[in-house]
Amino acid sequence: MSSPRTLLITGAAKGIGRAVAENFATDAGNRLILLDLDLPQLQDWVAGQVFAASIETYRADIADLASLQVLFKTLATRLGYVDVLVNSAGVCDENEPEDLDNWHKVISVNLNGTFYVTSLCLPLMADRGRIINMSSILGRAGKVRNTAYCASKHGIIGLTKALAMDLAPRQITVNAILPAWIDTPMLQGELAAQARIAGISQEQILRNAKKKLPLRRFIQGDEVAAMVRYLASPEAAGVTAQSLMIDGGVGLGM
Ligand SMILES: NC(=O)c1ccc[n+]([C@@H]2O[C@H](COP(=O)([O-])OP(=O)(O)OC[C@H]3O[C@@H](n4cnc5c(N)ncnc54)[C@H](O)[C@@H]3O)[C@@H](O)[C@H]2O)c1
Repeated sequence: MSSPRTLLITGAAKGIGRAVAENFATDAGNRLILLDLDLPQLQDWVAGQVFAASIETYRADIADLASLQVLFKTLATRLGYVDVLVNSAGVCDENEPEDLDNWHKVISVNLNGTFYVTSLCLPLMADRGRIINMSSILGRAGKVRNTAYCASKHGIIGLTKALAMDLAPRQITVNAILPAWIDTPMLQGELAAQARIAGISQEQILRNAKKKLPLRRFIQGDEVAAMVRYLASPEAAGVTAQSLMIDGGVGLGM
């Protein structure tokens, strides 16, 4: 068991963010600051659990800089310092290449939001702290009808690499995780949309999707959380500016 730490996790109401929170909440002494746009969902989930760690929940729209500045003023007086920041909040949405509204929406949340939270957290970051950003395999690859999402996730990798250089003198590591096919509400939503477009059942689309994956299964949120735990561990102190894929082999397999 590692020594108690303060963690700030965005997008903690669902999916990967929730799985990360669940993982670190098993350690007594940890203090978890959980942020999400959907505060009722976050609070409902927390209320139904028994955690060893102490948990605080806050509503935050990571795309809204002004409201984040207010929130971080409160956090600064309450927290003292943050050891680990996990930027998991994000949205995915398909778009036509010329769709300006979608571009602004996706970039605002995924890229600007990750930057806003990180920059406001920096004055609170402890030396030897950890910043872990959720990018995507679409941070390395392109996909039809995904210009905004791909640009946002490529941008997160650039932000990760450059910030890692800025923070290296303080022994703060900054890394990106590149997930794909993680069994979360986001993936289920995408598959449901694909089933509608293809005019087939969701079960069929699930079977088709799994056939494309080398491991023949979706990855679970707790498997991504285990990767976050490694990056936040003392053993990973020398790992920085990296992009680690967790995709069941789909990104590099044939
Ligand atoms: N699930 C996958 O297969 C997959 C693949 C690649 C990348 N990712 C990335 O991993 C991260 C987590 O994805 P997930 O699958 O858990 O998604 P999810 O939709 O299941 O959960 C995302 C959480 O972020 C919150 N959120 C969305 N917009 C927000 C905002 N403006 N401010 C604050 N909170 C906001 C949502 O309320 C939700 O609780 C995302 O950045 C996503 O792009 C996921």
